[in-house]
Amino acid sequence: MTAKFIVLEGLEGAGKTTALKFITAWLQQQQIEVVSTREPGGTVIAEKIRTLVKQAVANEPLTLMSELLLMYAARVQNTDVIIKPALAQGKWVISDRYFLSSFAYQGGGRQLEIAAIQAIHQACLGEFKPDLTLYFDIEPELGLSRAKGRGALDRFEQQHLDFFIRTRQVYQKCLAKDDTIVEINAGLAIEQVNAQLIKALQTLLLSLQSQLQP
Ligand SMILES: Nc1ncnc2c1ncn2[C@@H]1O[C@H](COP(=O)(O)OP(=O)(O)OP(=O)(O)O)[C@@H](O)[C@H]1O
Ligand SMILES: [Mg+2]
Repeated sequence: MTAKFIVLEGLEGAGKTTALKFITAWLQQQQIEVVSTREPGGTVIAEKIRTLVKQAVANEPLTLMSELLLMYAARVQNTDVIIKPALAQGKWVISDRYFLSSFAYQGGGRQLEIAAIQAIHQACLGEFKPDLTLYFDIEPELGLSRAKGRGALDRFEQQHLDFFIRTRQVYQKCLAKDDTIVEINAGLAIEQVNAQLIKALQTLLLSLQSQLQP
């Protein structure tokens, strides 16, 4: 079976990390070998970049372009060191966030020019993209209240509500344009979220089986 690359996207507190564990276990039950990773991060170097972009530094703001480039540096590292080698070995890969986060957060939230993101994206990743993106759609207020329940907030989680409203708008625009992005109603209870996840995974598995039939 061809290995697939699945990405989980959405605002803070939408339930991506919770879902990653559920999806990993569900795929393993289907005898599928799974490698999980996250963004920014996933490798030793990329995790160092994660710390840089998540923590505020006194008296020196991280410029918007620096933030975007650091995100792509971490992404290229994760892609070349973890994601592509795993797929080449026939292992499925699940990533907690991937490039859609840059379009949504740096493009929507921070209002960087989308054309600039596209240019950097093309240089870094070319045509490489996930087979399936599960977009966890949630009201920003609800997601943030869940994230607050987890403890101290990072540099992104401290943004104003408008930032997350703009971020969500870009996610929703991308969802409407790309049929490899599937919407998950993340405002529901965990059992109902999991039922939606199983449905999306079963659809992916069925499409694979039909491709394999002569
Ligand atoms: N469907 C749900 N209903 C209620 N609580 C949930 C649900 N899904 C996750 N949670 C809880 O909400 C909190 C945030 O979930 P999680 O960490 O999975 O979100 P996330 O999308 O990974 O957020 P972040 O982007 O900040 O990492 C956790 O405490 C989790 O247990
Ligand atoms: Mg998370």
